[in-house]
Order: sequence, then C-alpha cells, then structure tokens
Amino acid sequence: MPQLLLIDSSADVHSSTSRELTARFASEWSTFGPENSVIRRDLHANPLPHIPTDELHWAPRLRNPERPVPVEADELQRELVEELIESDVVVIGAPMYNWSIPSALKAWIDYIHVPGTTSTFDSVTEPLAGKPAIVVTSCGNQYGPGTPEELVDHQIPPLRQVLAVALGMDVTFVRAELTLASRVPPMASWINASQANKAAAHREVVALAQRFGKPRG
Ligand SMILES: Cc1cc2nc3c(=O)[nH]c(=O)nc-3n(C[C@H](O)[C@H](O)[C@H](O)COP(=O)(O)O)c2cc1C
Repeated sequence: MPQLLLIDSSADVHSSTSRELTARFASEWSTFGPENSVIRRDLHANPLPHIPTDELHWAPRLRNPERPVPVEADELQRELVEELIESDVVVIGAPMYNWSIPSALKAWIDYIHVPGTTSTFDSVTEPLAGKPAIVVTSCGNQYGPGTPEELVDHQIPPLRQVLAVALGMDVTFVRAELTLASRVPPMASWINASQANKAAAHREVVALAQRFGKPRG
C-alpha cells in the first residue's frame, strides 16, 4: 500500500502554482487505486511552532540531559519523523520567498533533520536513504542555470543539501518559474514563457506520479 506524504507551504490558498502542481501529482497518484494513500500536511494552514530548544536538533541519546526538551515538542518531532519514514514518496511544495523558502517549510526541516535519527552522526543512520522526494519549486522570477539571478537562488540549494546530502533521499526538483509574469507589468514579455514553463511542470509531475504511483509487476 504505497503512501504519499504531500507537504504544502505556500501562503497563497487561491492561486498558488506549487499547490496546483502538488495537487496534480496527488490526483494522478490516486488514479492508480485506493491503495495509493495520501497524507496531507499543510504547513501554512497548520504551522509548526519553531523548535523550542536547540537540543531538539539531536537524537534523544545525543541530547544534553541537563537541558530537557519539552515533552510536546519531542512528541511532535517523533510524529513528523515517523510520518516521513513511513511514507513511500514525499512531495513538497516549496515557493521562493525572499530568495529562500517559506519559514513554515524551514520549521518542518528543523524538526525532521535530526543527526543520529534521520542522518548519520556517530554511526550510520539513514532511514530515509533512497526514498523519492519530489520538490515542486515556484518562483516569481527565474533562477535557472545561465540566468542573471542564478547565484541568488537560496531556495533549491538548501533543500538539496538537507534532503539529498544530509538525509540521502532521491530528490527530483520540478521548477515553475516566472509565475509573476502576469502580475508584474515589466515582466509582461515573459507571460508566454511562464505559461509554457507551467505546462512543462505539469507534464513533469504527471510523469513522476506515474513513475512512482503505478503498481509494480
Ligand atoms: C513573501 C514573498 C516573498 C517572495 N520573494 C520572492 C523572491 O525572492 N524571488 C522571486 O522570484 N519571487 C518571490 N516571490 C514570488 C513567489 O515566489 C511567487 O509568487 C511564487 O509563485 C509563489 O509560489 P506559489 O505560487 O506556490 O504560492 C515572493 C512572494 C512572497 C509572497
């Protein structure tokens, strides 16, 4: 019974591109039958509290016993980590906010990257190694290789660092760029490129949902 964990973080609940694309993945995923389950975590609608203490960054056995972690924060972290480990595929909607990611998504990352639990520290610990993660990024401008703003993209690099490098997940990025073309008058000449880019992103998420959601054998 393959399980999809669907995470959204856009503060736009009306016309978000990342939400549109993560929803497209989920609907395609569900076409393969009711056994393809979906767990939804909307980090904007139900934001996580910031981690209340730095001790939460570490596996329980690595924490300083003189600095106890609040029980509810410990339980929340366990729930988030278990939910991630138990899912077969993770889809993350990650808009660009101020050249980076929404703080709502960053808060989730601060809970689930735990040396000694989800990443290797003093012994090999990699329960997420190889798990597919599809990260749907959306941004108003464009930041791909060769573009003038390439070097100020602080959206994809930290997500790649945490999910792929630290956690060992099998990460695929889907980029929807130029989403502000129809809203910002000086970007009007990019409207066609923006629409073509979104259409390509839809095709990519559909192909990925088919790849990971289709029953094997
Ligand atoms: C708080 C905030 C900050 C933003 N900062 C940037 C930015 O630094 N660069 C950019 O290209 N777009 C920026 N945008 C535009 C969003 O990246 C764009 O609207 C994107 O489509 C948002 O994703 P969504 O459509 O899934 O909500 C920002 C939007 C918001 C709301």
